[in-house]
Amino acid sequence: MLKRTQTCGQPRISDVGQTIIVNGWVNSYRDHGNLVFIDLRDRKGLVQLVFDPEKYPQVHKIARTLRCEWVIGAKGKVRPRGQGMENPRLATGQIEVAVEELEILNQAKTPPFEIDGSASVGEETRLQYRYIDLRRPEMLSKLAIRHRVTKIARDYYDSNGFWEIETPMLGKSTPEGARDFLVPSRLYKGSFYALPQSPQLFKQILMVSNVDRYFQIVRCFRDEDPRADRQAEFTQIDVEMSFVQSEEVMRMNETLIVRIFKEILGVNVPLPIREMTYAQSVEEYGIDRPDLRFEMKLKTITDIASACSFKVFTDTVKKGGIVKGLCVPGGAKYSRSDIEVGFTAFVTDLGAKGLAWFKVAPDETTGKLGLKSSIAKFFTPEQQQQLITKFEAKNDDLILMVADEAATVNKALAPLRVKLGKELGLCDSNKFEFVWVVDFPLFEWNVNENRFDSLHHPFTAPVPEDLPKLETDPGHIRSQAYDLVVNGSEIGGGSVRIHDPQVQAKVFDLLKITRQQAQDRFGFFLKALEYGAPPHGGIAFGLDRMVMLLTNTDNIRDVIAFPKTQRGQCLLSEAPSTVDQSQLDELNLRVQKHLHQMEEKEKSGS
Ligand code: AMO
Ligand code: AMP
Repeated sequence: MLKRTQTCGQPRISDVGQTIIVNGWVNSYRDHGNLVFIDLRDRKGLVQLVFDPEKYPQVHKIARTLRCEWVIGAKGKVRPRGQGMENPRLATGQIEVAVEELEILNQAKTPPFEIDGSASVGEETRLQYRYIDLRRPEMLSKLAIRHRVTKIARDYYDSNGFWEIETPMLGKSTPEGARDFLVPSRLYKGSFYALPQSPQLFKQILMVSNVDRYFQIVRCFRDEDPRADRQAEFTQIDVEMSFVQSEEVMRMNETLIVRIFKEILGVNVPLPIREMTYAQSVEEYGIDRPDLRFEMKLKTITDIASACSFKVFTDTVKKGGIVKGLCVPGGAKYSRSDIEVGFTAFVTDLGAKGLAWFKVAPDETTGKLGLKSSIAKFFTPEQQQQLITKFEAKNDDLILMVADEAATVNKALAPLRVKLGKELGLCDSNKFEFVWVVDFPLFEWNVNENRFDSLHHPFTAPVPEDLPKLETDPGHIRSQAYDLVVNGSEIGGGSVRIHDPQVQAKVFDLLKITRQQAQDRFGFFLKALEYGAPPHGGIAFGLDRMVMLLTNTDNIRDVIAFPKTQRGQCLLSEAPSTVDQSQLDELNLRVQKHLHQMEEKEKSGS
């Protein structure tokens, strides 16, 4: 093999006159009869090779047999391209290599799609031939950014005295809240390991072990329904620190994130990152991960609504519900069918019962701003003015409102706000609005199970002054948890932990986890807390989500080399798959045949 001296993307005008060797893949092939031109591709980019029949007839002859994606090595002299032949879109566009020696390193089958044009190829094909898909510069650059992010993180934590420590992959089920992936044990028949949903308990135990500062770039496994920004197998930048309060964890870790955005995108994020309480976030944005790139805040109008004569509103308020809405700037341009068919279907799909609306326009006689819609008659002129003031509405705006239980209203309006923000071009992808969401409730009430659930996880510490409420008013305890949110995406979350075994026991009581269940599930951890646990806290960032933001993609699979589909399959390796009966026998497992067959049928769609 010709030992390469340069990579394809490298030679510059300053290399003219030098003899170089490049290796790579045939990106494109043009045969002009007398001259053959090849664009050769490697990880760094492209370079144009020229084969001249006059000077090197043998080499030219071989060059004519080359096909796209063949792997070759070439030796030749760098020379400037002819006048007018430069390609300003290529880094190497001013030069070409006049090839003197050529070696075919490997042939390739015709690829299932072209490297240049595969953006339009179905994702299934791309995932099946991932090695070809990854050859696309667009995909490789995402892998490169992911690599750089992990490198910056490792360097950052190392320079701040953190140690990278691995925690077990074969472990015990952790209470992160999702379904576990289980691994059967061969030696302990009938027993199972669980793949970690996060290293939560082990990293806390490392604090009890006097590690002081830990980090790990670690794979986590959660068998939950996939979404555009969720994979069953994903990566966290996981961190834990001893003798800290939330302030120190936030300051230490936000500096890393700001550094990453600066180094990768050149974006300056001012420090410290602002904070917003959970209560404010839910009130103004309907959600605990607000997209702050644009305003269009939600406004609660329950008081005005309760006084009007629109029955939908008054009945809802009587039943203890709320009425909330948002004002779309310039939204009067939307047609009645946009609103009553399109937007209404959008919110009813999210659980709302309907969508009430007003267009803001001047009154024909008085010229004063008023509200127009079929329900305007249920609002007195004074109430209309109150609404206009509340929504800070201007001429040609559109006011959209939902009446229901608070949770349903927010669940409908928060996505509607983001959808409209996108439609109106308010979600600038070059803008990054960071916010720490803080003061989460420690618990949320689980109506179905008639008990509290942890909003984060059961090891999250309450705000100290709220501790007495553990006995009296658990629903109103704030936690020492913090989520880092960027443009509506939660890229990290963590908390100060409970290090007092008594508080931990009380929290389990409220979650209706019995002593016995706690003992069975994480007794080893509770025991560790009794042997001198320092105050500690930490955070985990979603690496995949961070890289999604940095590479401006909505699809988490784009930032993972070998991702799973929405249905949890690896189309490249065809996992999951059945296994040999002998393997099942060894594990003492039996697959119920009829169930298995049903699933196979479902998969094949028959
Ligand atoms: P949490 O469950 O909030 O916290 O996870 C931390 C971050 O991981 C990312 N993330 C995911 N990314 C892709 N696919 C998924 N299925 C997925 N689930 C979570 C999110 C999230 O903010 N042990 C705690 C952290 C701690 O308290 O220190 C934990 O795992 O960006
Ligand atoms: P109705 O009186 O049911 O015909 O509804 C009149 C208007 O109110 C329609 O535009 C409905 O979409 C809207 N609407 C109905 N229920 C609600 C609700 N819970 N919140 C907001 N608007 C609603």
